Amino acid sequence: MILGIETSCDETSVALLERDGTVRVNLINSQIDRHQPFGGVVPEIASREHLQHLFPLVGRALDDGKARWEDVDSIAVTSGPGLIGALLVGVAGAQGLAYGLGIPLMSVNHLEGHIYSPFLQREGAALPLPQRFLSLVISGGHSAIYDVRGSDIRQINRTRDDAIGETFDKVAKFIGLPYPGGPEIEKQSRAGNADSKRFPFVVAQFRDESLDFSYSGIKAAAIRLAREYSIRIDGDDKKALADFCATFQDALVAQLFDRLDSVWDRLEGTKPEAVAVAGGVAANGVIREQLQAWGAERNVTVRLPEKRFCTDNAAMIAFAGLQKGNAGDPRRVEARSRIA
Ligand code: KG4
Ligand code: ZN
Repeated sequence: MILGIETSCDETSVALLERDGTVRVNLINSQIDRHQPFGGVVPEIASREHLQHLFPLVGRALDDGKARWEDVDSIAVTSGPGLIGALLVGVAGAQGLAYGLGIPLMSVNHLEGHIYSPFLQREGAALPLPQRFLSLVISGGHSAIYDVRGSDIRQINRTRDDAIGETFDKVAKFIGLPYPGGPEIEKQSRAGNADSKRFPFVVAQFRDESLDFSYSGIKAAAIRLAREYSIRIDGDDKKALADFCATFQDALVAQLFDRLDSVWDRLEGTKPEAVAVAGGVAANGVIREQLQAWGAERNVTVRLPEKRFCTDNAAMIAFAGLQKGNAGDPRRVEARSRIA
C-alpha cells in the first residue's frame, strides 16, 4: 500500500491506497474552525495544526485500515504548491517516516492530485485512466484546464485573475454569507431565477484569442449590483437574494463552459475520450449537471469526482504518486510553495 500525506493548506489528511487504486482509508482533519475567526487561512496557525495532527492521524489511518507498517511500501507527499510552512510539516514528516522505514518517497504536485481524483471510487479499485482526457481543475485557488495523457500533463489555460471558487467566496462574503461561499451561493440560488432581468450580468461570449479564464469582471459586476439593489443575507427581499445568487452563479458557469468550448474546438489530434472535473467547485450541482449534458452532446465521457475526493485529501495524492511512479530517495524531496 501507499501512504498518502497532504498538508498544503488547511486540511491535514492521511490515506492508505492499495496498488489498484482502492482507497482503504482517507482521513481528513479540517482546521476551518481555527481559521474562521480571521476570515481566511492564517499560515502560522495552519503549520502548527498540521504539526499537532499529522502523526496521530497516521496512527489512526493504520488502525482504521487494519494495516501494519510492513504493508506500506512507499509514501506519497504533497511537496507543493501551497503554504510553505504547512508543506514543510508534511514533507519533513514523510521524509522521517520513509527514511526510518527504509522505503521510497514520492513527491506529488497538489494539482496533479486533483487532476487524477475523478477516477477514484468510493469503493473498490480506481477506474482505468483514458488514453487522453481533459481535466478542469476548479477550486478556491485554481481555475485551469489540462490535457492529460497518462503521466504527461499539459496546462492549456489558466485564470488571468481570480479563481472561480475565490469569486464565489468573495461575492458571498460581500452579501454576508459565511465562508466558504460557494455552497452557500448554490443553496440560495435554488429558490431563484437565473433569467431574472433584474440582474443584468453581461454573460459575454469570451471567444477571443486567449483561452484563459477571467473572473474579476463578473466579481466587480456582482459587487456593483449587490450594492445597487441592497442584496444582503439579512435583507427583506428573499426573492431578490435568490435571483441574484442564481444569476451570479449562472454567469460564472457560462464563462466556464464558454472557455471549455473554445479549448475543445481548438484541440489538435484525436479528441480526448473524457472530460474530468476536480477541485472544491466540482461539488457544485449546476456545474455537474451541465457538464453531463455537455458530454452527452459530444459523446464524451464525463468523470465527476465523488464529493469526498473533490476537496483536499491524501487519497488523491497517493493516487497521483501511483501515476507518476517517481518513488525515490526521501532525502531528495523538497517543499516548494510555488511550482511552475
Ligand atoms: O479544492 P478546495 O477545497 O480548496 C482549494 O481551493 O484548494 O476548494 C474550495 C473552494 C471554495 O472556494 C468553495 O467556495 C468552493 O470550493 N466550493 C463550491 C462548492 N463547494 C465548495 N463552489 C461552488 N459550489 C459548491 N457547491
Ligand atoms: Zn486543492
